[in-house]
Amino acid sequence: MADLETHDFDVVVIGAGGAGLRAAVEAKQRGLRTALVCKSLLGKAHTVMAEGGAAAAMGNVWSEDNWQIHFRDTMRGGKMLNNWRMAQLHAQEAPDRIYELERWGALFDRTKDGRILQRDFGGHRYARLAHVGDRTGLELIRTLQQRAVSLGIEVFMECKILRLLKDGDGRVSGAVGYWRPTGDFVAFTAKAFVLATGSVGKSWKYTSNSWESTGDGHAMAFWAGADMIDMECVQFHPTGMVWPLSVRGILVTEGVRGDGGVLRNSEGRRFMFDYIPPMFAAETADTEAEADRWYDDHINNRRPPELLPRDEVARSINSEVKGGRGSPHGGVFLDIATRRTAEYIRRRLPSMYHQFKELAGVDITAEAMEVGPTCHYIMGGIRVDADTEATTVPGLFAAGEVAGGMHGANRLGGNSLSDLLVFGRRAGAGASDYAEGRSGTPTIDRAETDAVVAQALAPFERDGGESPYDIQADLQDKMQSLVGIIRTESELVQALDELDRFRERLSTVSVTGGLAYNPGWNLATDLPSMLTVTTLVTRGAIERRESRGGHTRDDYPKPDPELGKVNMVQRLDERGEHTLTPEPLLVMPPELQALFEEDAH
Ligand code: FUM
Repeated sequence: MADLETHDFDVVVIGAGGAGLRAAVEAKQRGLRTALVCKSLLGKAHTVMAEGGAAAAMGNVWSEDNWQIHFRDTMRGGKMLNNWRMAQLHAQEAPDRIYELERWGALFDRTKDGRILQRDFGGHRYARLAHVGDRTGLELIRTLQQRAVSLGIEVFMECKILRLLKDGDGRVSGAVGYWRPTGDFVAFTAKAFVLATGSVGKSWKYTSNSWESTGDGHAMAFWAGADMIDMECVQFHPTGMVWPLSVRGILVTEGVRGDGGVLRNSEGRRFMFDYIPPMFAAETADTEAEADRWYDDHINNRRPPELLPRDEVARSINSEVKGGRGSPHGGVFLDIATRRTAEYIRRRLPSMYHQFKELAGVDITAEAMEVGPTCHYIMGGIRVDADTEATTVPGLFAAGEVAGGMHGANRLGGNSLSDLLVFGRRAGAGASDYAEGRSGTPTIDRAETDAVVAQALAPFERDGGESPYDIQADLQDKMQSLVGIIRTESELVQALDELDRFRERLSTVSVTGGLAYNPGWNLATDLPSMLTVTTLVTRGAIERRESRGGHTRDDYPKPDPELGKVNMVQRLDERGEHTLTPEPLLVMPPELQALFEEDAH
C-alpha cells in the first residue's frame, strides 16, 4: 500500500462537541501537543441540541441552592444507578465551569441585578440552568471553539476515525480513519487519546440526533477492550416534534415547560397529574390550582408535574397516546400560548418560535405544539474513573455522552452541558498527565492499519450487494419498534436475532462511485458502529429485568432493589467473546448517603 499520511501528537481528542473541545483546551493549556479530530465540521455537534441550559448550583435565583442538593437531584433522577463520585464532582465543579465559560466570552441571560439567570428544568429542585435563550448548547460550542482556535489547537475536520490501535503493551497508540472530502486514509499516533464522540441516537427512527450520532466512540472503545456499562439506559426526551413527518424527532426544548408550558391530552386534560410517582410526590403539585400558583408566583413549594424527570414524563405521554388520548399525529399537546405573552415566548424561546413557524406552520404564541418522545441521549457508555476519565484500556480516556456512569439510569435535563464542561476538563487533564508519564514513542503496526483500510474499502469491491441506506432504515425501524421506550423480553430477543441478520446483510453491503464525499460509502463505514452499539443496548436491556429510569420493561414494570445495586458491564474478553456481567456499584460514603436521609428540601 502507498504511504499513509500520519500525524503525531501527545494528546488526540476525537470528537469536537462540548466535551471534546473542553478536553482539547485543557490539554493545550497544559502545554501538550494537542489535536482535535472531528467527523463533521467544527461547530456542528449534538451539543447544540441541549438547548435549554447548563445545570449548576450557582444560587443566583434561589440562594438556598447548593452542590449537595444538585448532587441529590442528579442521583434521584438517575434512580441511584449513577457513579456517585462523578455526580459529586459534577455538582461541585459545574458553577466554576460556567463562570469560566463566561470569562471566555459566553453571553448568558441575566437576572435583573446582572447575574447569570437560571431557569427551571425537570427534576431540579431549584431553577439552576444557566442559559442563553433556547440556544445554550450553541453558545457553549461557539465559546469553546473560539477558545480552542485562539490557543492554536490543530483541528482535523471532516475526518472519520474507524479504529483505535494498541501497541504491544496494550496501550492505545493510534487511530486510523479517512478524510471525508477525499476518501484518503490517515493515521494519528499519540501518547493518549480522548474519546468525546457523543451519542448513538441515529440507530432509532425518531431521534433528536443528527447524522453524526452513530456511536463510533462507543463501538471503538468496546472493540479496543474497554468496559461498557448500563448500555440499556437510553433516554427518550419527552418532547420532540411529531409533525410534519419529515421533521419528526427534532427537539422541543424542556425550556418550554421550564418557562410555563403545560402538557394536555386530546381531552384538554393536564394528564401529568395522573402520573406522579411516590418518589416525587412530596415535592410535586397534585392539583392544577397549586401548579398554577407555582407558575404564576414562582413560589418554590411544589413544582408542576410537567417538571418531573424526563423518564417519567416520556412514559406518561406514551401511555396517553396508547390509551387513545393523543393528538392527531400521535403525540400530545404542549401549550405555552395560554400562559405566557407572545413577547415573552419570542424572547425566551426564539428557536422554538422559529422552528415551529418554519417547519410546521404553527405559531406557538397562539397555538399548542404537538410533541412526543424522541431518542435523545444514552446514559450508558464507557466505564471511566471519575477523577481522571481514564477508561479500563491504558492510554484511552472518555468524556461527555460517550462515557457512562454520571447520569445513572436517567439524565436530568441541563446536566449534559455541565457534564461536558466538568468531565471534558478532567479528561484533558487526565490524558495530559498520562501522556507526560508515558515512556517511549507510540507506534502502530502497519499491517493493522492496512487491514482497517481494506475493510473500509470492501464495499467498493462488491457488485449488487445490499444498500447501506436500506440497512440503516431497517435498523432504525427495528430499534424503534423492538428496543424503544417500552421493552419486553420477547421483543428484545427478537431484536437480537434481527441484529444477527443485519450483520449478515452488512457483510454484503456494496457502494458505487468514488471516494470523495461519497455519503453511501460514509454510511457503510458507520454501520459497524451502529450494529455494535445496538447490540450492546439490546443485550443490556435483556439482562436488566426491571424498570429503572430510561429503561422500561413492560414485563418487569417495577425497579428491582437488587438490580439497583449493579452496573451491567459488557466487554470483549481475552478470546474476543462478548461478555455481560452484573458488577456492584461503587459504595457511596456515609456523608453523601446522609443527604438522602435528611429532609434537604
Ligand atoms: O430540552 C433541552 O433543552 C435539552 C437539554 C438537555 O438535553 O440537557
